[in-house]
Amino acid sequence: MAPYLPDPPVGIVGIGSDAPAQLLTNHDLEKLVETSDEWIVERTGIRTRHIADDKTTTSVLASNAARRAMADAGVTPEEIDVIVVGTATPDMLFPSTACLVQAEIGARNAAAFDLAAACTGFIYGLNVIAGMIRNGTCETGLVIGAETLSKILDFQDRTTCVLFGDGAGAAILKRVENGKGLLSVRMLSDGTLGDMLKLPAGGSLHPATHETVDLRLHYIKMSGNNVFKSAVKSMTGIVRQGLNDVGIGPGEIDLLIPHQANIRIIEATAKKLRLPMEKVFVNVHRFGNTSAASIPIALDEARSQGALQDGMTVAVVAFGAGFTWGSAIHRF
Ligand SMILES: CC(C)(COP(=O)(O)OP(=O)(O)OC[C@H]1O[C@@H](n2cnc3c(N)ncnc32)[C@H](O)[C@@H]1OP(=O)(O)O)[C@@H](O)C(=O)NCCC(=O)NCCS
Repeated sequence: MAPYLPDPPVGIVGIGSDAPAQLLTNHDLEKLVETSDEWIVERTGIRTRHIADDKTTTSVLASNAARRAMADAGVTPEEIDVIVVGTATPDMLFPSTACLVQAEIGARNAAAFDLAAACTGFIYGLNVIAGMIRNGTCETGLVIGAETLSKILDFQDRTTCVLFGDGAGAAILKRVENGKGLLSVRMLSDGTLGDMLKLPAGGSLHPATHETVDLRLHYIKMSGNNVFKSAVKSMTGIVRQGLNDVGIGPGEIDLLIPHQANIRIIEATAKKLRLPMEKVFVNVHRFGNTSAASIPIALDEARSQGALQDGMTVAVVAFGAGFTWGSAIHRF
């Protein structure tokens, strides 16, 4: 893809997030599968993850995050022109989760649709909405990354069930003053590697049958090692592309917010970018991998902890099923 053109400037003017109250610890997982707290912490950095109860769907978490982002931005539901929800765990195949959120928050003037880019959904959504604001079809956009991955986890498969968690994060996008907002957005995909991370059944290839249920095909399947290697390489490369677009070096980034999949992926990416870990935001130990929700949750937490402040140049980067990956450089 060609470089992002930052004029007129568009940026994030409000952030919010939500996660279910219930925590699942590594010790809880020890009772379900052959694993240990030690193995999980050493290989992933994860200690706990938030898990939704039966009534808490992706749209519930997404709507809560959206309300907080709207309050943060001082925007009313009626002002929202478009809602994009990045999710791999929609409430149902249709209507879209974005339409369910629209109804829930009362954004009656908005167009609403879901975006399927797995863990990169939030970054893809930023670019889609920024493009709409710049082409004049919308003034105020709401982008959400929201997941209830616990509902598609196989709690008999220790190679996947320890990695993921539930949550949602949202951002309001608007025109901003010159020199601020999105300075670069980069998106890439490689569909030839789709088999490495997938949920095989429930679509037109394998509609739900007793057999697909018996074969446990409605759960995440992953080749962890291959995903790991591609994630580090792709995330490093696409942050470098973004920095190149803006004409700055890694040293000029105040904060890197990487997709929170695994502490070893985060550390390896930071090392390749020659960024000290003090400049890298990490909350994977408390959330696990929340896919499309990971970056907006981290943005919200970074801000509330004081790690993200006005005037900072922040790089966000994600990688996920597809494969898809993307980066954004944003001056707050
Ligand atoms: C999944 C991941 C943590 C596995 O770590 P790893 O160091 O690659 O480990 P391996 O897959 O090589 O497995 C090593 C051993 O641990 C075992 N193992 C896997 N999961 C385990 C668990 N939860 N507890 C204990 N042992 C486990 C494996 O079965 C294997 O055993 P074996 O040697 O007897 O066959 C790692 O590959 C990873 O993080 N990948 C990226 C996943 C990801 O982030 N996906 C989403 C991207 S958006």
